[in-house]
Amino acid sequence: LRDLTGAYAISAITTYEPHTIYAARLSSPLVIGVGEAEYILASDPTALMEHTKKVIFLDDYDVATITDTDCQIHNLKQGRPANHEAELLDYDNQQVLLGDFPHFMIKEIYEAPATIRNATLGRALPKQNIVKLGGLESVEQQLKYIDRIVIVACGTSYYASLVGEYLIEEVAGIPVEVQLASEFKYREEPFSRSTAIIAVSQSGETADTIAALKKVENFGVLRLGIVNAVGSTIARMTDAGVYCHAGPEQAVASTKAFIAQVTVLSLIALHLSEGRTKHFKPLLNELEDLPAKAQEILDSAEDIRVIAERYKHYRDFMFIGRHINYPCALEGALKLKEVSYIHAEGYAAGEMKHGPLAMIDESFPTFAIATNSTLLEKTYSNIQEIRARKGPVVAVATKGNNHIHNLVGNVIYIPETLEHTQPILLAIVMQLFSYYIAVARELDVDKPRNLAKSVTVE
Ligand code: G6P
Repeated sequence: LRDLTGAYAISAITTYEPHTIYAARLSSPLVIGVGEAEYILASDPTALMEHTKKVIFLDDYDVATITDTDCQIHNLKQGRPANHEAELLDYDNQQVLLGDFPHFMIKEIYEAPATIRNATLGRALPKQNIVKLGGLESVEQQLKYIDRIVIVACGTSYYASLVGEYLIEEVAGIPVEVQLASEFKYREEPFSRSTAIIAVSQSGETADTIAALKKVENFGVLRLGIVNAVGSTIARMTDAGVYCHAGPEQAVASTKAFIAQVTVLSLIALHLSEGRTKHFKPLLNELEDLPAKAQEILDSAEDIRVIAERYKHYRDFMFIGRHINYPCALEGALKLKEVSYIHAEGYAAGEMKHGPLAMIDESFPTFAIATNSTLLEKTYSNIQEIRARKGPVVAVATKGNNHIHNLVGNVIYIPETLEHTQPILLAIVMQLFSYYIAVARELDVDKPRNLAKSVTVE
């Protein structure tokens, strides 16, 4: 093992010791499930859930020697035994089974109301007018001196982070910069100690995000995590953090994790604002009402399926949005690409005339986010520009907006909500839209070609 370089998670057995398994990891995840008279190795605890909830997370340079009755772990770098306690994961067994759903993706989309509730449970306390984040308590003093936040993430977590940028800046008044982890690690940029870095990751095992955190290891900055997988590498390597509590997510395309991440970012924004913002009370109250509104969208999923059916044959798709819904458009395009293999681009609606409009014709539809906001009139103009080029448009609008029918034939409605909470409801709509298109195209929605759930290589 000392001769190996790069990242690995391996297990080996020899004919000389047929009752012993050796396992080791470096930079790639490896967990040991502790069952009834058995040990099971996996790269992700979710894979173990049907067998056991008791797991041991191995650290870099750990070597485990597993026999029929025993599991000893030695850390090669430290040259001594590693004493890892087995942790009990609090996953509900039902969460790893499909139940009555045909795919995990749709099952996980339907978990949106519970996801919002679980992320806010015991944290958003409107009656007491506070947001309590136990995971940040140990760093409360340091948080008071933070004047800049850099968020690093990949994929869907990156888009959730971009929504978080609007939330934290507008609610807490702290400047935020979101960077793709794969880019961040190769950049040279000035960093002051009053900067906090937040890694956002569903799996907690994404190699690029881990590398980004490692880069700032010796910068003396506060490293926080917004992670879903309890006990994962990112959760363990950060100084503090807030778990998403979304439960295991199995479909490769992330759905409920995005909902949980944006919910947690809203809580962090509220917490950092210390109540000193006009947004505090309304946002805190709205988070409580949001699960019911998410359920309302799910109850009318059939309307979205019917519209999706009309768009399944297109080759290209444009997603447009403004302000906090701009990153939603990016995420909507990603979702469609991932599961339907349709070429999709996300754009800030105001950018259409700076290039993308050239592509629009009757064969290039647009998914326009036109929910109630101070910028709605401007979005109407964008839609008109697209319609004038014969571009088909599907719009998402806020219930009660009848005017939109003068511009667009296919409208999907979401319940009235604050601008800051629209991304959560919009995400559900766009996830359903992508799901139904992929199903109509008879594709493997849960395991899209060429993609992996957890990308543990750089
Ligand atoms: C992969 C997954 C995406 C996910 C991204 C980041 O590409 O297919 O769904 O958004 O990794 O993963 P993370 O676990 O760090 O959120």
